[in-house]
Parts: sequence; structure tokens; C-alpha cells
Amino acid sequence: MRSIGMDCLIHIKNPIFKTIATVAQELNLPCYVVGGYVRDVILGRECKDIDFVVVGDGTLLASKVAAKIDKNLKVNIFKTYGTAMFKYQDLDLEFVGARKESYSAHSRNPEVVAGTLHDDQNRRDFTINAMAISLNAANYGELVDPFNGLEMIAQKKLITPLDPSVTFSDDPLRMMRAIRFATQLNFTIDANCIEAIHKYKERISIISKERITDELNKIIASKTPSVGFKLLFDTGLLKLIFPLMANLHGVDVIKGKAHKDNFYHTLEVLDNICKTTDNLWLRWAAILHDIAKPHTKRFEEGTGWTFHGHEDKGARLVPKIFNELKLPLNEKMKYVQKLVLLHLRPIVLSKETITDSALRRLLFEAGDDIDDLMLLCEADITTKNEFKKEKHLANFELVKVKLKEVEEKDNLRNWQPPISGEDIMKIFNLKPSKEIGLIKNAIREAILEGEIGNNVEDAKKFMFDFAKELGLQPA
Ligand code: CTP
Repeated sequence: MRSIGMDCLIHIKNPIFKTIATVAQELNLPCYVVGGYVRDVILGRECKDIDFVVVGDGTLLASKVAAKIDKNLKVNIFKTYGTAMFKYQDLDLEFVGARKESYSAHSRNPEVVAGTLHDDQNRRDFTINAMAISLNAANYGELVDPFNGLEMIAQKKLITPLDPSVTFSDDPLRMMRAIRFATQLNFTIDANCIEAIHKYKERISIISKERITDELNKIIASKTPSVGFKLLFDTGLLKLIFPLMANLHGVDVIKGKAHKDNFYHTLEVLDNICKTTDNLWLRWAAILHDIAKPHTKRFEEGTGWTFHGHEDKGARLVPKIFNELKLPLNEKMKYVQKLVLLHLRPIVLSKETITDSALRRLLFEAGDDIDDLMLLCEADITTKNEFKKEKHLANFELVKVKLKEVEEKDNLRNWQPPISGEDIMKIFNLKPSKEIGLIKNAIREAILEGEIGNNVEDAKKFMFDFAKELGLQPA
């Protein structure tokens, strides 16, 4: 972290701030940089969104500033909210009139009336987000910090400007934001705030799923997402926003035999994968890889705890979970589903004598996602026994080498059938029918089993023999 004062001045030396200050003075409108930008400047984080609070008409100031920069600059004005925004270089600038807000019990939308800078700072979520930098001639560049946000940044602490019950029950999304900032910035949440989250957690129900998931994704995109998930669990929010994940928590013991706690295991896998990838969807695959363990849990005499079929059931739950959380129902979902389904396969392979046909099948099913699958499997090793860990990793290395060999030989990653359905229809003069599917499957199986090569010539020969058994003759 850097020292303030000087830093604020340095950062507001971007010519845009001077332009805004000049126009604000002409219009006699006090104006301040506020919120996340100020926080990030102090933390030395990059921030491309700059919010300005104007004591008076923010939309007027925005329009005049934009016109001064470039007559053709487009300003988006939202009259109802009294906000205006435009893009300047790579920055998003948003202007809003200073306001006071009052909330009712069942809505996120407050009643808004014009207020002072102090009123505006009061209504903000955390003291670190309630600081402002003056753009006014009298004190240009000065930090206006009525709640000691600067000190809270130094102490790495999240605390609300007002009583946390008011701040959180007014806008329950802030409970998610508290946990998200704690995870992103490695800050602690003040004990009273934690208590208020416990108390007001049910109010999260008035927040849209999309906004909750936005925050969840920011937690997942952090360096160590387990921090956020543990806070979500401990405060009771996780049970409300993502009950299937909360259900992973807990250990059953029968006849002295316990299984591992799948919630904490999942978090370890998630933190592990975050060391190797920024891919949000691979991180989601880590979160969901064991999601169906509670559904498939059995205690079998002699064997102990089993979770047979959890990968299959888990894969089938993925669309439901994506739908619930308003995550995209597109190829990202299919990717996560595929990784959940296949996450045990490399482990099984590493335990058995590896056959080429098993490797071919895995390559065929994983396609281009095979490397991500291997990363997931490596992240899934959470044993504390170093010897076992090394052994598993060495086995996976062997699987990877073998996969590479088979891939080079058989080229199955992006497998395209050497003979298409149309080819088959033409050759045997068939209309679309069951037989075509049978022939295509048989060719694919023969290639995967290594009975024939992955080429047109072998496939044709095989096809004629197989078609004969079906009683088909070439046209
Ligand atoms: N804010 C708030 N309550 C919210 C959302 C936002 O009080 N539920 C205030 C905070 O002062 C915040 C500012 O509005 O700093 C801007 O909000 P936003 O752009 O959503 O968040 P940032 O704090 O800038 O952080 P990030 O960009 O990481 O979301």
C-alpha cells in the first residue's frame, strides 16, 4: 500500500480530472471522485471505472464535460436515477448527484432525495468505499474520509459506515460484497458485520440471482476462493444461495469409519486449481466435481463409504445448477459437465495397466479439454501424505505420456468419423434410418478398440463387412 495524499494528487493528475474540475467550477457544482476508484488508488490496484459525486445536477456536469472533450462524445443519461456516464479513453466515467437514500423492507430500490457529500458517503457499503477526493479549487486533491477508511485499509478491515444492520438490511447484496472484498483483498470483516450477516442473511432473497452469482464469480476468480466460501458457509449464506454446495459439508461415521468432509475437500481442490489456471469454468468444474457425493453416499459392509456414480449424477446436476444460479446454459456449461463426468477416468487409468483402447476412449471423450481434465485430476489430490501424493502425481505423468503417444499415433482429440452419415446413405442408397447410426457406432467402436486404423480405407472395409451382417448391399 502507498501513502495517501501525494498519491491521490498523482492519480488525479490525469488531464480528465482537471477538465472536470474546471467545468465544475464554471457551473459552481462541487464535485468529488468517490468509491471504488479511490479505494483502488490507495491500494495500488488498477481501476478503469471512475465514479464522481456532484453536489447538484450530476447529469448536467457530465454533459458539459463530455461536450468540452469532444462534441460528438455520446453521454448515456438515466434521468430516473440522476446518473450519466460516458467513456473516455479506456475509462468508464459515471456522474451522480449526491443523494440520501431510504429503504423499505421488501425492496432493493431506495427512495432517493438530493443530499450533501456526507449524506452520500453515509449511504455507502464499507468505509474503504466511502472515501472521496475533492476536485474543487479550494482543496483540489484532498481526501475526504469521514469514516476513517484510510485507517481501515491500513488495518485490512471491512466495516460499514453506519450500523451494519442498517447497511445490510437496506441492501442485502452488500453481505455478498463484504465476503467478496474480504476474499479479493485479503481483508477481515469486522465482527459486528459478521454478526449482522448472520442476522440478516435471509434478506438475500430480495436480490436477483444474477447479481448474487456475479459476486460469487468474483470470489471464484480470486487467488484463494476458499476464504470466501468458508465465510459464506459460516454465515449461513451458502445454504441459501447454493444449497447443494453447503450439503457437501459434514462427516458421517459408521462403525468407526468416517469419510472425508467433501466441502473442505472441494475447497482444497478449488484452491489447488487456482494455482494453475485463471479459467473461471475450470474453477467451476473443481467446485462441482464431487457435488453429487451426498446423493450417492452409501456405507457398504466390508468396504466402508462409497460414492458410486457420483461423477455421472454430478454431470447430470450441472445444467440444473447452472440454471438455478443463472450461469450461461451454453458450451461453458457443457465443458463443466464433461469435466465433472470424466474426473475419475484418469485416476482409474493410472491404477490399472493402461491399455491403448482406454486411452483412445478418454481422448475421444475429452477432446480438446483433455489437458484441463488432467489439471483437475492433479488438483483433486489432496492427501497430506507426501509419499502418496508423489505416487499419484507420477502415475498421472505416466498417463499423460501415454495419452500423448496415442494422440500422435491415432489423432483422436478432435475426432471426425472417417465416413459420414451422408456417405453411408449414398453408398447403400438408404434414407435416414436406424442402420446408419448402427454402422457409424460400429466404425467408431472398432477404431477406439484398435481393431482398425483411424482412416477411410480401414473404415470402408469394416463398413462393408458390418453392413453385410445387417443384410445391406451397396447400391
Ligand atoms: N456501493 C454500495 N453498495 C453496493 C454497491 C456499491 O455502497 N451494493 C458503492 C460503494 O461505495 C462502491 C461504489 O458504490 O465503492 C461503486 O460500486 P461498484 O462499482 O459496484 O463497486 P466497486 O466498489 O467500484 O468495486 P468493483 O468494481 O470491484 O465491483
